Amino acid sequence: MQDCYLIDAVRTGRGRLSRPKKGFIGEFAEIHPTSLGAMLVDAILGRNPSVPPEKVEDLIYSTTIAVKEQAQDIARWIVLASKLPVTTSGVHLNRFCSGSLQASAFANASIRVGDYDVVLAGGGEHMNRVPLGSDRNDPARLAITDAIREKYKIVPQGMSAEIISEKYGISQEEINAFSVRSQQKAHAATEAGKFKNEIIPIAYTDQDGNPQVLDRDSNIKPGTTAEKINALPRPFKEGGVIHAAASSGICDGSSMALWVSGDAAKEFGLKPRARILSNANWGVNPTEMLDGVIPGTRLALKRAGLTLDQIDRFEINEAFASVPLAWMKTLGIPEEKVNVNGGAIAMGHPLGATGGILLATMLNELEREDLRYGLITLCAAQGMSGTMIIERLS
Ligand SMILES: CC(C)(COP(=O)(O)OP(=O)(O)OC[C@H]1O[C@@H](n2cnc3c(N)ncnc32)[C@H](O)[C@@H]1OP(=O)(O)O)[C@@H](O)C(=O)NCCC(=O)NCCS
Repeated sequence: MQDCYLIDAVRTGRGRLSRPKKGFIGEFAEIHPTSLGAMLVDAILGRNPSVPPEKVEDLIYSTTIAVKEQAQDIARWIVLASKLPVTTSGVHLNRFCSGSLQASAFANASIRVGDYDVVLAGGGEHMNRVPLGSDRNDPARLAITDAIREKYKIVPQGMSAEIISEKYGISQEEINAFSVRSQQKAHAATEAGKFKNEIIPIAYTDQDGNPQVLDRDSNIKPGTTAEKINALPRPFKEGGVIHAAASSGICDGSSMALWVSGDAAKEFGLKPRARILSNANWGVNPTEMLDGVIPGTRLALKRAGLTLDQIDRFEINEAFASVPLAWMKTLGIPEEKVNVNGGAIAMGHPLGATGGILLATMLNELEREDLRYGLITLCAAQGMSGTMIIERLS
């Protein structure tokens, strides 16, 4: 088996959902998802000029709502829209919210067995142009069958977040406090410039026709208080605990990582920044859906031969506040090491992009703080989860 190294990981800022009634158009609303992905490809090639574009053999790219502008093999369209040559292939994958983490896991596995030397892996979601649910417009033509519905009660993810809160005894106070902390940490990290090395500034035109650049996550609400958010409606369950401020925000974004073999790193004079120690995918009951991160984390640790206390930083996707709270409580993970720069509750969750965003954030955090091991985990729809442990190398 050959070595595989992470050389770079970049992302866009998260662009907001348009609110036509409020006269606001999302930053990326007019940018095609293929173009957004191509901008990141060009940016990562630009940051690593010693890698000849013709040596990039494949782009593995995830989207979750794989219809309209995110349908077909969007990865290949991104290749053709970018500065990559026609010789670079492209493959689209869908593992819902953990899709772009899976893209990197597949890149790593393929390089290690010798199938590639240089691969790009990432994902994107344009929730303005391809809204949540637009892959379910025709109820008579869905992949799910009546037989599956008889076996499992399929509910919206927000409902699963309510089920998780009840199952793990997570209180309203804990949910509100966690949601406020996510906003505070994201705001502090942004103001401190902690995302600068990972975010590629993207030019756009605002609703007044003025040229602008998005170089940050635009959804953060630093004025959030527990009192204010407690008064918000509970959209998923009457009398429930999950409100909009405890849910990941709907937004647009993209992520991209450059993976190379040991030989390619040497040949192109690249500095290996990290390597993958383990990956774990885990399925749970699709009704509860969101707690696969718990067994997934256990398996990833076992595979890496590490214990929880050896992990320096954790990034868990804040799909809903009950998910990280249940995971921390069950596994005994100290919150001081978790999402130290905030998470999707504050910054948004562009589904297919988020795994790669967390990878970029983790890599930069380990480097900045001179730490070694990072664990990234995301719950995913239909009762799945993806978990990865990386080791910083330089
Ligand atoms: C929860 C959800 C339905 C809310 O959608 P929404 O109503 O469009 O959300 P908004 O951002 O408009 O927030 C609703 C209200 O809460 C307010 N709000 C949200 N966060 C807040 C905060 N931190 N502090 C104060 N108010 C807040 C908004 O300002 C808005 O108020 P308004 O109606 O007066 O304008 C949506 O965000 C969602 O479905 N999230 C989960 C996405 C998902 O399932 N992802 C995949 C699985 S992880």
